[in-house]
Amino acid sequence: MGYNNENYRRIRAAYKTKYLKAYEEAERRTAELHTKSAEVAEIDRQLRSTGAEIAMAALGTGADYRSRLAAVEARNLELQKKRSELLQKMGYPADYTKPPYECELCRDSGFVDTKMCECMRRELVLAAFASSGLGELMRSQSFDSFSLEYYNGEDRMMMERNLELLKAYAEGFDAHADSLILCGATGLGKTHLSTAVARRVIERGFDVYYTGAIQMFSDFEFAKFGSGTGEHLADPARYVDCDLLILDDLGTEVTNQFTNSCLYMILDNRINLRRPTIINTNLTGKEIKARYTDRIASRILGTFKPLLFAGTDVRRQKLTNK
Ligand SMILES: Nc1ncnc2c1ncn2[C@@H]1O[C@H](COP(=O)(O)OP(=O)(O)OP(=O)(O)O)[C@@H](O)[C@H]1O
Ligand SMILES: [Mg+2]
Ligand SMILES: [Zn+2]
Repeated sequence: MGYNNENYRRIRAAYKTKYLKAYEEAERRTAELHTKSAEVAEIDRQLRSTGAEIAMAALGTGADYRSRLAAVEARNLELQKKRSELLQKMGYPADYTKPPYECELCRDSGFVDTKMCECMRRELVLAAFASSGLGELMRSQSFDSFSLEYYNGEDRMMMERNLELLKAYAEGFDAHADSLILCGATGLGKTHLSTAVARRVIERGFDVYYTGAIQMFSDFEFAKFGSGTGEHLADPARYVDCDLLILDDLGTEVTNQFTNSCLYMILDNRINLRRPTIINTNLTGKEIKARYTDRIASRILGTFKPLLFAGTDVRRQKLTNK
């Protein structure tokens, strides 16, 4: 299962010291109470010694150790009761000096027994969203916000099938899932549905990287020449390492020898490692053959399962319906 290594290391490290914050806060609050009330300070001193006595009595033997144990326990309870009454009088909650963990389940350790706590899993998922390259797209594009209303007749049947297939793909995704190529004209929902897949696959704990073709080649250009237009977003290794790479708008880049060798390297590596990739493109199979080298075209056409998108530009339909 592929949590992004860098995220995992960072969050794991943060959890290693997280509970300390709660401890320090508890100590700070205790000191605060002690300066305000000598009585509470005295009770805490006595509580510490009854604590030790309980431990001793519990280890003890002899006929009367049960009654001794019962006596210190009773004394301990009485002190605690008195303490919470005092706190209440001073206007504090009774548990004021309990370490204020963010998560009571794992006491901010990130694990419950040997199982990862939900709170840590949630943080990993959030970090995965943040490092997925998806950003704003994420918010509005999901399976739920995808409507079949925009398609008619045969197109609709085709799109319904695509939708079902992609939902099942996301639910069943694993490290060696199929690679897909989503082909079709502009505005038909390729980016929308591939983003929906990304979202679900991230939620299920995998490392997804989403990128546009132009951005990807620009990242490689930056890595190789330290130059290039636009912003450098990802290390080239990210394109090979992630569990699922989503390469949007393939064919919008200016294709040249450099972009060809980058694309070949990524596809070849990912295919050899059996790591799934989703490509979105306006290009047809024929155009892919014409545009890219044989070695690239044969890898795409031979390994990627095609999903054809059909219909009338939804982007335009939405604009005119407004
Ligand atoms: N079936 C749909 N239901 C709701 N919204 C949709 C649907 N299809 C597309 N959209 C919306 O229409 C816009 C265009 O869709 P999208 O970006 O997915 O198209 P695309 O196929 O990737 O187009 P392009 O080839 O130009 O990249 C987006 O805002 C998307 O959310
Ligand atoms: Mg698109
Ligand atoms: Zn937790």
